[in-house]
Amino acid sequence: MTENRWFRRDASGCLHVSSRGKLNLFLEVLGRRDDGFHELETVMVRCSLADTLTFRRRSDDQIRLTLTEGSVNADSFPLDDSNLIVKAAKSLQQEAALNLGADIRVHKRIPSEAGLAGGSSNAAFTLLALRELWNASLTDDDLHQLAAELGSDINFFVANCRAARCTGRGETVQPLAWNRRLYAVLARPARGNSTPEIFRRLQPPNEPRSSAPLLAAAGARSKTSIVAGDELHAMTPATAAQLSENVFNRLTEVARQINPAMSDLLDRLERTCGVPAHMTGSGSTCFVLTPSHRQARIWHRKIRSTNNAPFTALVEL
Ligand code: C5P
Repeated sequence: MTENRWFRRDASGCLHVSSRGKLNLFLEVLGRRDDGFHELETVMVRCSLADTLTFRRRSDDQIRLTLTEGSVNADSFPLDDSNLIVKAAKSLQQEAALNLGADIRVHKRIPSEAGLAGGSSNAAFTLLALRELWNASLTDDDLHQLAAELGSDINFFVANCRAARCTGRGETVQPLAWNRRLYAVLARPARGNSTPEIFRRLQPPNEPRSSAPLLAAAGARSKTSIVAGDELHAMTPATAAQLSENVFNRLTEVARQINPAMSDLLDRLERTCGVPAHMTGSGSTCFVLTPSHRQARIWHRKIRSTNNAPFTALVEL
C-alpha cells in the first residue's frame, strides 16, 4: 500500500482521497470586474472536515459517480454531469486526450451552500487523483488552468497547501507557511446562502481592507520566503485573540440581510462563546476560533445544545 500526504492507494489500485474543506479567515472584495466576477483578496486555511472520495479506474471512458449512505445533503447532491466532480473528470479526460474512465464513490461530510468549498475541494482532488490514476502527463500548471475554468476556489485545493492568500477571482494562489494550530467550532443554520446572490447584492467598498494585519497576527509568510516545516505549533491565547480580531469577511453584512437565521446564529455564537464569531466564504457556516482543543470541545457542546444549528462540527485548521 503506497501512502502520501493526500491519497492512499489500496491493494486493488483504488485511490482513497481525503477532500478537505476550507475556512476563509479574510475576504475582501476589491471591485467588480467586466466579466461579472469580483476581484478578491482572501486568506483560506484548510480544515480537517473532509469528504472521502474513492477512485477506481475503468477501461472504458465512463465517469460513474455514486454517493454513500449516510452522506450529508444526499437529496441535493447531483450525480449527473452538473456535478463538479464529473465536470472536473471530463475536463481532464479531454485535456489529456484519454479514453479511460473512473468509478467515483463519494462520502459527503461537508454540507453544501456552506462556504466550506466542499464542491470545489471535490473537483480539485478529482483532478489530482485522476491524473495519478490515469498516468496523465499533465503538469501542475495544466491542472491549475483546468481548475480556474471550473470555478474560483478550486485552485487553492490543487495547490494542496495548508493556507494561502488568494487573489484575482480567487484562483491566483500564493501558498503561505502556516504553522499555528487553531481549532474552529462551525455552525450552519438550516438555510444555505447562494454565492451569486450575495455577490449580486454587494456594493464593493471604497476603501478595501488588507489581509496584512491578519497575516502578521498569524505569523504567516509567503511560502517561498522561508523553509517551512509541516509541524503545527500551539498559539498563545493572546496571539489567537489578536488573530481573531483581524478575521474579516466583507460578505457577512449582505449575508446577514438575506439570511436572518444566520445573522441570529452569529449573535448567539458571540454570546455563548464570548469571542467574535465569523462567517466563512459566502456562508452560511459561521465559526469561532480558539487555540485550545479543550475550549473548542466545551464550545461545541454548548453550541450543539443551545443554538438552532442543524450542522455543527469541531475542526482543526
Ligand atoms: O467561481 P464560483 O463558481 O465559485 O462562483 C460562483 C458565483 O459567485 C459566480 O458565478 C459569481 O456570481 C460569484 N463570484 C463573483 N466573484 C468571485 C467569485 C464568485 O462574483 N470572485
